[in-house]
Amino acid sequence: MDVATGLPPAHGTVDPRGFKQGMRAMAGAVAILAAEDTEHGCFGLTATAVCSFSAEPPSLLACVHKNSTFASLTRQDMAFSVNLPAPDQENVARVFGGMTTAKGVARFSAGSWVRGEAGAPLLVGARAVFECQVGEIIARASHLILIGLVTKVTLDRVEREPIFYAHGRFITVNASAPESESIPGKLDAQVLQR
Ligand SMILES: Cc1cc2nc3c(=O)[nH]c(=O)nc-3n(C[C@H](O)[C@H](O)[C@H](O)COP(=O)(O)O)c2cc1C
Repeated sequence: MDVATGLPPAHGTVDPRGFKQGMRAMAGAVAILAAEDTEHGCFGLTATAVCSFSAEPPSLLACVHKNSTFASLTRQDMAFSVNLPAPDQENVARVFGGMTTAKGVARFSAGSWVRGEAGAPLLVGARAVFECQVGEIIARASHLILIGLVTKVTLDRVEREPIFYAHGRFITVNASAPESESIPGKLDAQVLQR
């Protein structure tokens, strides 16, 4: 076991730059993670390293870089949201992806946000919103792997196309949910005070 990374030693050596170039070819579904801290206010980031984990219990995985604000403020049991933006919310993904100068609470000027029952900021008009509670935090290599226990799912504009990120740009694919999957559920929580 490598003490620095917590991973077993690798059998080969791959240049991280080559790895990153290969990963640019992998289209990643874009999600925006958001949470609130009593001391620091709202914070969040754009992430493609998010995936379904288990339906029993409903849970997902999110990997956040150790140097990110999100990693530094994440706590066991913390409420957070995973928001899947619609194509007209690409600007929100840019802001939360650090592609502008906005940091911390200032990022929430992009898009419209409400506060969920457990306190996490939720993106109004997202295709889907998963309200989660941090179930486990696993520190490995450069990232924290968060297991998010899903407490509520809201499908608002799931009929819109998903946004992906590939080769350094945002792309949309005509893969909207069929009408039969469009279970209406709109966010009706109180508007977030910034
Ligand atoms: C499309 C896209 C996907 C990203 N995916 C991740 C990710 O999965 N995990 C992560 O830690 N950072 C990811 N980032 C980078 C963070 O969003 C970015 O560094 C952000 O500014 C971190 O927030 P902070 O500045 O508050 O620390 C991604 C950025 C973009 C634009």
